[in-house]
Amino acid sequence: MSKIVVTGGAGFIGSHIAESFAKDGHEIIIVDNLDPYYSVDLKLRNIDLVLRSGDASFIQADVRNLGRMREIIDNTVDYVYHEAAQAGVRISVDDPFKSNEVNVLGTLNVLRASLEADVKKVINASSSSIYGKVKYLPFDEQHPAEPVSPYGVSKLAAEHYCRVFNEVYGLPTTSLRYFTVYGPRMRPDLAISIFTRKMLSNEPITVFGDGEQTRDFTYIEDVVEANKRLLDNKATDGKVLNIGSGNRISVNDLIENLRDITFSNSCVLNAGKQKGDAEITLADVDFGNKLIGYTPLFDIKKGLNKFVDWVRAEQDLWGRREEVVMLPSA
Ligand SMILES: NC(=O)c1ccc[n+]([C@@H]2O[C@H](COP(=O)([O-])OP(=O)(O)OC[C@H]3O[C@@H](n4cnc5c(N)ncnc54)[C@H](O)[C@@H]3O)[C@@H](O)[C@H]2O)c1
Repeated sequence: MSKIVVTGGAGFIGSHIAESFAKDGHEIIIVDNLDPYYSVDLKLRNIDLVLRSGDASFIQADVRNLGRMREIIDNTVDYVYHEAAQAGVRISVDDPFKSNEVNVLGTLNVLRASLEADVKKVINASSSSIYGKVKYLPFDEQHPAEPVSPYGVSKLAAEHYCRVFNEVYGLPTTSLRYFTVYGPRMRPDLAISIFTRKMLSNEPITVFGDGEQTRDFTYIEDVVEANKRLLDNKATDGKVLNIGSGNRISVNDLIENLRDITFSNSCVLNAGKQKGDAEITLADVDFGNKLIGYTPLFDIKKGLNKFVDWVRAEQDLWGRREEVVMLPSA
């Protein structure tokens, strides 16, 4: 069994990775600063779930603080899953400095501390946002990276730091480029979360642009499985891998799928396009398949059904989350 630090482990993806490893019997340390970008209560609930899943502990700390990263990532740590970030394209357009500090400096600190502690591997959460402008589809890992948002720039810089720490200092690193992830506990600022909750209560939903933009949506269980396959995997050292579903769907079709599942009569309002949003994302997942046997098991219908079931159950348990509908569009 390994000792695994999960930065950002109070968040959506990090808490799923941490929970799954804890259930498998690994020792987990969640490191998170409980950033108030969205409800801290949701993050505390995520932490609680992980702590109840096995041998897990929580340390509140900021990845921007190198001293704290050195204290936490000591030479008893085997692996670091680095999921902490200022996620979100729109907030990065409003405040590029914060995305840069957390995502670039924060990653550099985690890499530096991991190198000094001689950890076995750092697995870095990257993003399809690094691709930006489409030259061809689907995006394979060689597709030119020309991000169209400050967030994409910060994730690309972080990815390069991971590669360079592997090449220059010999620290094993792998970056996973996630394509829009959804599922239980997902960030409340993401479209599928907002649409589902509004459709379940028949409220109007707002689509930015004409809704014909297409996305590759990836179910959280596929993302967790990909991360778990990196443990003890040398073939992925220094590499970047796409983690997507390999399919894309327009926002308008996504809404129709959700309507079929929820029987909602929500009307759709169209608003102007948001700055920094990518028009199209679509992953080529062949490389991940070759290196770690990555095979996405969830198509959009299967994933949405599972997600809507979860939202319904959660609303029965906790009531409707007011903070979700009050959130700005960021
Ligand atoms: N959700 C997606 O669709 C998606 C897509 C591509 C990439 N990613 C990447 O995956 C990772 C996880 O994303 P998520 O959707 O779970 O986001 P999230 O916001 O739910 O989780 C990120 C966590 O990091 C923590 N954090 C933020 N700043 C921090 C700091 N300075 N120090 C310590 N912790 C800090 C937050 O409190 C939060 O709990 C991020 O790196 C994100 O960029 C996510």
